[in-house]
Amino acid sequence: MNKNDAKKQIQKLRDEINYHNYQYYVENNPVISDYEYDMLLKKLEALETQYPTLITSDSPTQRVGGEPLKGFATVGHKIPMISLDNAYSYDELREFDERVKKVVTEVEYICEPKIDGVSIALIYENGVFIRGATRGDGIKGDDISSNLRTIRSIPLRLHGSNLQNAEVRGEVYFPISSFKRFNKEQEKKGEQVFANPRNAAAGSLRQLDPRIVASRPLDTYLYYISYADKDFKSQEKSLETLRAAGFRINPLIKKAASIEEAISYCRTLETKRESLDYEIDGVVLKVNSFAQQRELGSTIKHPRWAIAFKFTAKQATTKLKDIVIQVGRTGTLTPVAILEPVQVGGVTVSRATLHNFDELKRKDIRVGDMVLVERSGDVIPQVVKSISEKRTGEEKARTIPRKCPVCGSDVIRTLDEVAVRCPNKQCPARLKWRIEYFASRDAMDIDHLGGQTIDKLIEKGLIDNIADLYALTEQDLLQLEGFKEKSVQNLLDSIEKSKHQGLARLMYGLGIRHVGKYASQILAAQYQSIDELASKTAEELTQIHGLGEKTAEAIATFFATEENIELINKLKGIGIRTKETKKEGPLNGKKFVFTGGLSTLSRPDASDLVMKKGGMVASAIGKDIDYVVVGSDPGSKYEKAKKLGLTIIDENEFKKLIGVS
Ligand code: IVH
Repeated sequence: MNKNDAKKQIQKLRDEINYHNYQYYVENNPVISDYEYDMLLKKLEALETQYPTLITSDSPTQRVGGEPLKGFATVGHKIPMISLDNAYSYDELREFDERVKKVVTEVEYICEPKIDGVSIALIYENGVFIRGATRGDGIKGDDISSNLRTIRSIPLRLHGSNLQNAEVRGEVYFPISSFKRFNKEQEKKGEQVFANPRNAAAGSLRQLDPRIVASRPLDTYLYYISYADKDFKSQEKSLETLRAAGFRINPLIKKAASIEEAISYCRTLETKRESLDYEIDGVVLKVNSFAQQRELGSTIKHPRWAIAFKFTAKQATTKLKDIVIQVGRTGTLTPVAILEPVQVGGVTVSRATLHNFDELKRKDIRVGDMVLVERSGDVIPQVVKSISEKRTGEEKARTIPRKCPVCGSDVIRTLDEVAVRCPNKQCPARLKWRIEYFASRDAMDIDHLGGQTIDKLIEKGLIDNIADLYALTEQDLLQLEGFKEKSVQNLLDSIEKSKHQGLARLMYGLGIRHVGKYASQILAAQYQSIDELASKTAEELTQIHGLGEKTAEAIATFFATEENIELINKLKGIGIRTKETKKEGPLNGKKFVFTGGLSTLSRPDASDLVMKKGGMVASAIGKDIDYVVVGSDPGSKYEKAKKLGLTIIDENEFKKLIGVS
């Protein structure tokens, strides 16, 4: 191919890729498979490698992240990025409306979710993305262009010709579902965990290596054109223009004809807050007409035509009374903060996680400190930081304990792991967790066997391992405080019943690392007995579709341990079902995911129905999922399922499929 043909071909590929990129990342409506998309990108890369002079900054190949930077350059904002005035009550919104109406009449408002992310300004020249910056102090910010370039929903070239030379502002955020996964991974790797999605977004954008940023699932909502060649009439029109130019615009933005309508928008949005996959901390009300905005003008600090209504804070400060050490199911020691009880966004919080000892040290949190506590997304409450200004000198730092607080064994800490562990497999703390896990609803589902009962059983020396549960007698249980004949019989009945739960639940209940609900179902569907499973090497296990390498490794290790084999033999001796007869049916091996609320079935019951018919229930959307059952208020899984073009059914269709009515 000569250079001229290559140039044409490159342009064609770029247009095509940009189109699909937009369909995927902005419209949530992919038209081709990931594979086909990758092939287009590969073709373009190959051509650009052959003709490097034809590479331009707006090519989709430039998103992957270039060389690390030494630091960020500072750039001045042509128009200062001023912040908004806040309102904390509906009455304050009414007062804002009155102030507005002193200057202009017949006001319409645009109500926008206030995205709790990182504000950015994007500059386009002749329709091409040139530069992007953080807000900084409002006058000048950091040039983070190479990081922003990696975010797929930011167009590198604008669509159409309506916007050519402009600065566009908005917010970068870290989707909550990805944030939770990301934080878990960070914790495992011993890297920094973030208190909330906003910090994770900010931390990502501060990375000097754009390749790291490219690997993070950052997303955007844009809401403001600070300047352009053309004037627009209203916020509504400029949002339309932004959308048409290829930006992602929040779908919940609405127009309100009066302040009361705007207030009712705020009310409704606050109830939806927890169900969104991004954090919002309020509503931004903007006078719609730009002519009216100009009349209202700005003070040095804030525009007079907009206000931010803030939802109830999900942060609060309180005193950290103590740091206790919790010993988990795998022996991991976790520091937990005991707090002076405090209201955080409508919930009383008296305990919060401190993640691990590295975090504790990094954040320098001490017993006696005043601390900032936060609940974000549906993540468990956590201590964000200590307020060091409030220190009296009496505060005490906590160091890593040398001994397990429960059994007194010397703790271990391997070099590559952040975790501090109690190595004693018989540690009562671990035993308690193991039993609790084994008895839990998704495992062997043993009713009447709660944490307190397990504590008592361990204390009395009645159980030492899972199998001991099945040897418990009436006499044993009558020794326990609070146990009468009736409660004893109930517990014995539930224990007896659990013998027949089947291989999948048993596998899950054994608490093998990395073997969750889904992996255990896959295993039970693949093998007919625990013996067959135990005889497989890690290598053989990785051949099973849907099972990761780590999981396979963990299973093989589990069955290579003598105590575990002993336990399995005991369980078999007791008569616990460790074999599966292959289920034949239309749903055999079919994979289901549930999202949203069901109205006539509980989630666990629905899952049971699927499993009884030989199907499996996964928790995450993937290409191999056969049915996605969507209830009311579905979450991000629904969006993802649509994106992947999976079969989506509602509760009624599900019931028909499964044969219940
Ligand atoms: S308008 C002059 N709209 O909230 C226009 N801001 O203090 C100013 N924010 O720093 C911004 N969502 O980062 C606007 N829909 C939205 C917003 C929004 C979030 C942030 C923005 C700004 C702060 C307000």
